[in-house]
Amino acid sequence: MQFAGSHILSVEQFARGDVERIFAVADRMEPYAHRRRVTRVLDGAILGSMFFEPSTRTRVSFGSAFNLLGGEVRETTGFEHSAIAKGESLYDTARVLSGYSDVIAMRHPAAGSVAEFAAASRVPVINGGDGSNEHPSQALLDLYTIKSEMAGRGRGIDRLRIAMVGDLRYGRTVHSLCKLLRLFDAVQVTLVSPRELAMPADIVEEMRAGGHQVVESDAMEASISHVDIVYATRIQEERFTSQAEADLYRGRYRLNQSIYTHHCEPNTVIMHPLPRDSRDHARELDDDLNDNPNLAIFRQTDNGVLVRMALFALVLEVVEQVDRHARDVNWYTARRF
Ligand code: NCD
Repeated sequence: MQFAGSHILSVEQFARGDVERIFAVADRMEPYAHRRRVTRVLDGAILGSMFFEPSTRTRVSFGSAFNLLGGEVRETTGFEHSAIAKGESLYDTARVLSGYSDVIAMRHPAAGSVAEFAAASRVPVINGGDGSNEHPSQALLDLYTIKSEMAGRGRGIDRLRIAMVGDLRYGRTVHSLCKLLRLFDAVQVTLVSPRELAMPADIVEEMRAGGHQVVESDAMEASISHVDIVYATRIQEERFTSQAEADLYRGRYRLNQSIYTHHCEPNTVIMHPLPRDSRDHARELDDDLNDNPNLAIFRQTDNGVLVRMALFALVLEVVEQVDRHARDVNWYTARRF
């Protein structure tokens, strides 16, 4: 695809070569993300960051990625602080805010809303999550993490064995990740969820039609024994009509060190898009895994910055200029990665 000036709304817009291009650019962002070098390539550029749903890492990592490229960030968070609370349409908001920004990152609770906003925007829009539909930058950072974890084991993404566990119905990260995995060869996906929270049938059908093996199950332990990756997810309580309904499912699947030791192959990678629900009645990914070297959740969050820097560099077409506007940092970098 042509990245320059394009919206990034769905992973369905990528071919395998596009994903590989994004990952190659992400690799080149490492000295900047790891604070050994600074670049001013986006000096003067403005990111409009509009998050109409709770967000910590997606919002902050989009902002950090833009700052690390030398640009500035203007933030709108929550409907209550925006004119949408006065009845303004997405069309008008997009026309106005795209006049103040060079690129926009947006999250919104309604599926399809970011695409509707993008249609009216005068600058590229990156989808930071639209309801339970898609979360393309998360799927890219997840896949980038999978690629690097598997490389450490002498493997690639082709023929990956992955179990996705939890709320597969409303979890937009697993929707986008499944669609992205279709671009690779002979992936084996085990989908573990309560029957009511199963992966949407169209996503399952398209994976199978692409020659991938998909197994659906409601039993976690048996499903995580022969996989390379266990990808746990949170029950998306904000998509349920009541907390009581979400309570039916919270805590149904819990991965902890003892279950991992008894059921997983020794090198199985543990992933989660975060936030993990650490309250006692949930705990889908227990804190007792924190010292497990195969827990990749904070490598995922670190990789989010690299991948989002790559998206900005490609969409604003500065990839080849990044290093020309760079120098070493002035300060002592004590951070260890
Ligand atoms: C996810 C999201 O918002 O879809 N979080 C994230 O962006 N890393 C997952 C979640 O909220 O459970």
